[in-house]
Amino acid sequence: MRARERARKPPRTRHDRCQTDRAQRHQSTTGGQALSTQVAAESAHPTGPGYEHVLVARDLVRRYGDLTAVDGVSFHIDPGETYGLLGPNGAGKTTTISIVAGLIPAHAGTVTVAGRPMGPGEVVGKRSIGLVPQDLAIYPELTARENLAFFGRLQGMRGKPLARRIDEVLDLIALSDRAKDATKEFSGGMKRRLNIGIGLLHAPTLLILDEPTVGVDPQSRNAILESVEALSGGGMAVLYTTHYMEEAERLCDRIAIIDSGRIQAEGTRSELITLTGGLDYIRLTGEGKIADAATALRELASVVQVVADRHALTLTVREAPTAVPGIVTTATATGMTLSEVEIVRPDLESVFLHLTGKALRD
Ligand SMILES: Nc1ncnc2c1ncn2[C@@H]1O[C@H](COP(=O)(O)OP(=O)(O)O)[C@@H](O)[C@H]1O
Ligand SMILES: [Mg+2]
Repeated sequence: MRARERARKPPRTRHDRCQTDRAQRHQSTTGGQALSTQVAAESAHPTGPGYEHVLVARDLVRRYGDLTAVDGVSFHIDPGETYGLLGPNGAGKTTTISIVAGLIPAHAGTVTVAGRPMGPGEVVGKRSIGLVPQDLAIYPELTARENLAFFGRLQGMRGKPLARRIDEVLDLIALSDRAKDATKEFSGGMKRRLNIGIGLLHAPTLLILDEPTVGVDPQSRNAILESVEALSGGGMAVLYTTHYMEEAERLCDRIAIIDSGRIQAEGTRSELITLTGGLDYIRLTGEGKIADAATALRELASVVQVVADRHALTLTVREAPTAVPGIVTTATATGMTLSEVEIVRPDLESVFLHLTGKALRD
């Protein structure tokens, strides 16, 4: 007899986007207007009077022609919290964070960051945000340290404070030992971590990461996730977008499931799972007295429903892990010979399917 939980599919990878517009996006976000004001990164963070949430997004709307890419999105992020936007390609994740980071204006709604209003013209609010875009924005010929120094200078940092901050950032992204290597020698994951480091240079209150693991190998992916976990453990508020359920589950304190520009549901992983009814499935495959086993199993308190066919029983149950020993014993005692027991527990994929009728990854 084999007992197994349904294996989760490994995430698909996509080729890295081309790096043509490198640097551009970092400049326009953390630099841009802030650049001209020569904001010293070591200066105190701008905070509105007595703000409670690091980020408040209210009723955001953004249209592209006839398409409403973001359609009334509201959420907030608390200090130290990692908040996930989980949704498939085209759901509106990048558009949402582009509004939040002040890269593009909303057609309706408001964003407040650390108690300050946020928008394309808001220089002060932008200082609280570090945006790590999906496209890599690093110079391959420069070393990791030189890249950080370049972007630090763009943000008005100089001299010893800049050197100190670069050391701190290299440590945060676990690249201290590779600081002097040209980044063209780096793996995909190391480049992404350097990208994260650039977003961290000015010590933002909120770090925004847009699908940072797309197109990287599994090992690099893990290194990126560990970096995010370390930052979060250090008290950083993080806004993380992904279409990988496993990443949202692993990293995020709260998750918004987004589709068609709307937040379909929001909560902790377990809160979201309850939306499916919180029931598990157990599939018993085997031979023998299957009909008798079905009758006996229907009497068990943990069993909600039993569907029988010639070689298998599919049970809808409460709390599969605690129910499974009794179920196996009952099935065997009534004369069913089991060849396989499979437990299927609901996950965020099931929640997405339940809410939208679609698979998260099509
Ligand atoms: N600059 C743009 N011009 C026109 N349509 C866009 C633009 N950016 C995004 N969209 C559309 O808006 C929708 C949401 O896109 P996006 O926010 O990039 O989604 P996600 O990041 O979740 O994949 C998609 O249908 C996309 O094609
Ligand atoms: Mg996107």
